[in-house]
Amino acid sequence: MKKLFEELVSNANIEFNNTNDLVSLEQIKSKFLGKEGSVTKLLKNISKIKKEDRKQFGIYANSCKSQIENLLKNRRNHISNVYLNDKLNKEYIDVTLPGRGFLGGSIHPIMITWARIEKIFHSIGFDVADGPEIEDDWNNFTALNNPIDHPARSMQDTFYLDMNDNYGKKLLLRTHTSPMQVRYAKSHKPPIKVISPGRTYRVDNDSTHSPMFHQVEGLWISEDISFANLKFIYINFLRCFFEQENLDVRFRPSFFPFTEPSVEMDMMFKTGPNKGKWLEISGAGQVHPNVIRNFGLDPEKYMGFAFGSGLERLTMLRYGISDLRNFYEGDLRFLSQIK
Ligand code: PHE
Repeated sequence: MKKLFEELVSNANIEFNNTNDLVSLEQIKSKFLGKEGSVTKLLKNISKIKKEDRKQFGIYANSCKSQIENLLKNRRNHISNVYLNDKLNKEYIDVTLPGRGFLGGSIHPIMITWARIEKIFHSIGFDVADGPEIEDDWNNFTALNNPIDHPARSMQDTFYLDMNDNYGKKLLLRTHTSPMQVRYAKSHKPPIKVISPGRTYRVDNDSTHSPMFHQVEGLWISEDISFANLKFIYINFLRCFFEQENLDVRFRPSFFPFTEPSVEMDMMFKTGPNKGKWLEISGAGQVHPNVIRNFGLDPEKYMGFAFGSGLERLTMLRYGISDLRNFYEGDLRFLSQIK
């Protein structure tokens, strides 16, 4: 009887030692200790044992069971330890190696330009105002003297929303920062001296246009602000911005419904693949009397200039960049060059 149990223990030991993985170990366990396992079966037979031998049988059976359980536990620990050590060896980390380091972020070139512009205009007494990118028809077009059939309103270049304003007109993504002229002038008393940088949107996409771009609006309204003031302020702004005295800048007569007379200002690339080429940077002019009226002011008394400049354009000129889409591709090789 004793032998029988000893054999069982030694068989279990051999079989446990033959496997190296936990899953098959559990299967082997059930061969001995499971419902149909040999130890279980033996125990079930206790009734067939002679009465006087039963006690001894019980002692042997229990000891056999606990020996097998011990063997199993040891084998389980052994296999897990081997597995763990193996893993530790393979995934060894040398904590004394120098770190990989991480890239410091940098400010986006357009934001650098934005901050520079604010700083320069702030230093000569301009307020800085922020406004909504979703605009209504009044502020974006009508108040700015845009006739109903003006091409700037056409579906081709404006992103309209499927949502109306209080007057039943479609809301839109502002096509320029000029609505800020109206918003600011209506809520401030003259003299009005403000810039308003921000994002603007048009259905446009090529090397000098992107569907989302940045402009800065400038507005100075008082009793005697002339076109000559515009020229002086703007050219000196450019000198500060580009940190150069001699810039090639030209004013071309142009048309905007909200200024009269109107100009477009161009600047020449001094560096980069476009060196020697002109790039339009700004629209500007003397604010139209109808617009002054829409500010809630008397055009007989108040006059002044407005301008709207492209931040991408100014950035392109400053760093000699030929394609504005570079700003939006997120290529670190490009972005990290501009500090
Ligand atoms: N808003 C005009 C544009 O987007 C620029 C502009 C601003 C022109 C102010 C004149 C005065 O092109």
